[in-house]
Formats: sequence, C-alpha cells, structure tokens
Amino acid sequence: MVDLSVNMAGIHSPNPFWLASAPPTNSGYQVMRAFEAGWGGAVWKTLGDPIVNVTSRFGALHLGRQRMVGINNIELITDRPLEVNLKEIREVKRTFPKHALIASLMMECNRNRWHELVKQVQDVGVDGFELNFGCPHGMSERGMGAAVGQDPELVAMITEWVTEVAEVPVIVKLTPNITDIRYTARAAVQGGAHAVSMINTINSLIGVDIETGLTIPHVNGKGAHGGYCGPAVKPIALSMVAECARDPTVSVPISGIGGIATWQDVVEFMLMGATTTQVCTAAMHHGFRIVEDLIDGLTRYLDRKGISSAMDLVGRSVPLFTDWGALDINHKVVARIDQSRCIHCNKCYIACEDAAHQCIDRKIDDAGVTQLMVDEAECVGCNLCSMVCPVEECIAMVPHEKEEITWGR
Ligand SMILES: Cc1cc2nc3c(=O)[nH]c(=O)nc-3n(C[C@H](O)[C@H](O)[C@H](O)COP(=O)(O)O)c2cc1C
Ligand code: SF4
Ligand code: SF4
Repeated sequence: MVDLSVNMAGIHSPNPFWLASAPPTNSGYQVMRAFEAGWGGAVWKTLGDPIVNVTSRFGALHLGRQRMVGINNIELITDRPLEVNLKEIREVKRTFPKHALIASLMMECNRNRWHELVKQVQDVGVDGFELNFGCPHGMSERGMGAAVGQDPELVAMITEWVTEVAEVPVIVKLTPNITDIRYTARAAVQGGAHAVSMINTINSLIGVDIETGLTIPHVNGKGAHGGYCGPAVKPIALSMVAECARDPTVSVPISGIGGIATWQDVVEFMLMGATTTQVCTAAMHHGFRIVEDLIDGLTRYLDRKGISSAMDLVGRSVPLFTDWGALDINHKVVARIDQSRCIHCNKCYIACEDAAHQCIDRKIDDAGVTQLMVDEAECVGCNLCSMVCPVEECIAMVPHEKEEITWGR
C-alpha cells in the first residue's frame, strides 16, 4: 500500500492535495465538506483588511467546446469578519486534527498590525501561515499583495516580521507578475520563510464584449485588471516551480499552484519539486469530488512505478531541468509518418511548408491518393508536424539514424 502522506516544512498532511486560498475555502462549512471528500489540506481564504468586494467578479476563457480553460477574477480577500473566520477555523481544526489547515494572511505594511494578526490567528490552532504576496488587483493598488510580492526587500522584511512571532511554519505565496520569481523566492528564504508557494494569479484582462464594448467582467459599466488562473496557466506555474526547485539558494520546500486539475498535473508538479499542490479553479469548476480521482490516480501511479511514498516523488525530475546552454546540440530527432495510420489530411504538409523547413514531400500515388513522406535529411526535428497531426501516434519523432552510422565507422 502506498503512503500518500506528506510533510512540508513540518506541516503534515494525509495527502499532497490542498485547496488553494480562494472561494472554495471561504468558510468552515466548505472546508469541512472538502476534508470529508478527501482533500488533505486547505489554505483558508485570505484574512485581512479591508472587507470589501464587488459584483460581478469572474470572467471565463472558453476554448472551442472546452469550458473555463482559464478564469479571471477581480475578487479581493475575505469579506467576512475576522472573528467569524477564526471561530470557524478553530472548529474545523478540532474536527479534523490530522488535516493541514493553513491561514492565508494579508495586511498593510505595518509591523505591529502584522504581529497582531499573526498572534490572533495562531491562537485558534492553524498548522501554518501562507502570506499572500500575490493578489494582483485591488489590494496591490493599496500597497499589499503583488505590490509586496514584486519587491524582494519588502518580501524579506514582512516575512521577517511574521517569523518573529509565528510559532508555526510560514509559507510565502509568490506572484508570477515578475520577471524572475527566483529573486522574490530567495528574499522569502532570507526573511525566514519555511516554504514558498507559487503561483498566485497572473495580471490579465480576459475579454471585451464586442457588442457592448464592456470589459469582462464589468462592475456597473467599468472593468479593471484581474488575476488569471486555471489550466491555461499551468505551464507558467510549472516552470516557476522548477526554476525555484533547481536553485540551491531557494532551499525550502515548495507548494505548487496553478492550473492543476488532474492527478497527472499533480505528478508533474511533484516531479518538478513541489511537496504539496494546491487547487482552486478545478474545484470551482467541478466541485470537491475531483479529489477522489486525484487520490485514485496518484495511488495507482505510485503503485505502477513501484514507489512506496509520495514524498519520494518530490524533485525527481529537477536534475533533468537545466539551462539551454547545457543541452546536447548533437542530438537529432526526425519526424516519421506511420503510413498505415495516416488519413491524408495534409495538415503536417502545410505546417512544415508554411512554418517549418519544407521537408515533407507530397506525392500522388498510382491510386490517386496523396502520400506524405518526410525528407529525414532535411527535417530539423522541430515537432510541429507531430503536434498538428490529428491522428494519435501517426507521426513519431525518432532519433536520427545518422548517430548509428557514425558509430559504425
Ligand atoms: C476567485 C478567486 C479568488 C482568489 N482569492 C485568493 C485569495 O483570497 N488569496 C490567495 O492567496 N489567492 C487567491 N486566489 C488565487 C488562488 O489561490 C490560486 O493561486 C490561483 O487561482 C491559481 O490556481 P488555479 O489555477 O488552480 O486556480 C483566488 C483565485 C480566484 C480564482
Ligand atoms: S519535425 Fe518540423 S521540420 Fe521535421 S517534418 Fe515535421 S514540421 Fe518539418
Ligand atoms: S497530419 Fe497526420 S494524418 Fe494528416 S497527412 Fe500528416 S501524417 Fe497524415
């Protein structure tokens, strides 16, 4: 039986699946239902000031028939009174003592106010704090959220204020709205952070209604920049996790967030260095029950791979992620078309002709059927044809035989 439990900087969780600080973690009722469904941890919707919100708040990016590949929001932190949240956090922790319950915090740049908030929240028994240095809208205009997360000095300073009084581990949640996230991750570590989490949402305007000219969403006719998340942001989040994981100066565990919707996504984040993963959009889209698939999928995967503990997955692929300059420029792959699978749609031909290296030959055979053949000597192995081909496993990228010929000399 595989062991799904994880230990991130001293925070124990029955599995690596946490809900991110967001609408699904807004109340005790929701977090209790999530824990009952199987989630191993939850980061409570950010506590702090001010208590204000607008309607409407969300916009969606649909791609073809695929709903909500990305969403955008202009929501702020919790709009429920702190006392109500604290009472519910205490209740949840009492009912689920073995689950990870993390409080997300945001406060103005004032040492005493941070100290007060941290002490007040830790009194109700949270397992850790997550500092929200990432919210890109509303709060950032007031000097909080991403305004802090974009300035390594502020990140280090506020993290230090928190660790002065925190008796539980402190996770710093970073903004992706920055050129190189390693600078702020390092600053968090310098400030005493026990872990970092990434990513918060990406600055965005998700759309404009071309009939009315109004932004999506809009509040009584006017819109503002918001935060982008969901499956569409996963590559950005994964690369930021991987960059931090391979940086020896970011020497703390990572909680991976951004576009995670399936157990395969979780495995990818863990292989690239995440100890825990956090989910927001997928839970908003499909509900808490998706955790059953996450648990089942990860358990079967570990079983199949002969790995007994989820912790053993963490960072396995990090050594394979390197600088461009360290890549082998002698290595060559070429496209090869499986003629028995080809449906002669010509997509590969057009892609290579217009956007690659004009190395797919098109011939009409005796039966009048178009035959496509890759000129392997000319192919640069860019992958484009295999990506546009609609038939699975029809175009394979194979190591070039030149390699073997050279060996034979
Ligand atoms: C509507 C909404 C509200 C959010 N509120 C918060 C918040 O209060 N605190 C926070 O740290 N992150 C907040 N987030 C960001 C999420 O925690 C998470 O970092 C982001 O959505 C990326 O994960 P995902 O792609 O799984 O959605 C919010 C996201 C959404 C969509
Ligand atoms: S891999 Fe690139 S260069 Fe080679 S055939 Fe396909 S599209 Fe052309
Ligand atoms: S894209 Fe695929 S199916 Fe279409 S012609 Fe090329 S190889 Fe055949």
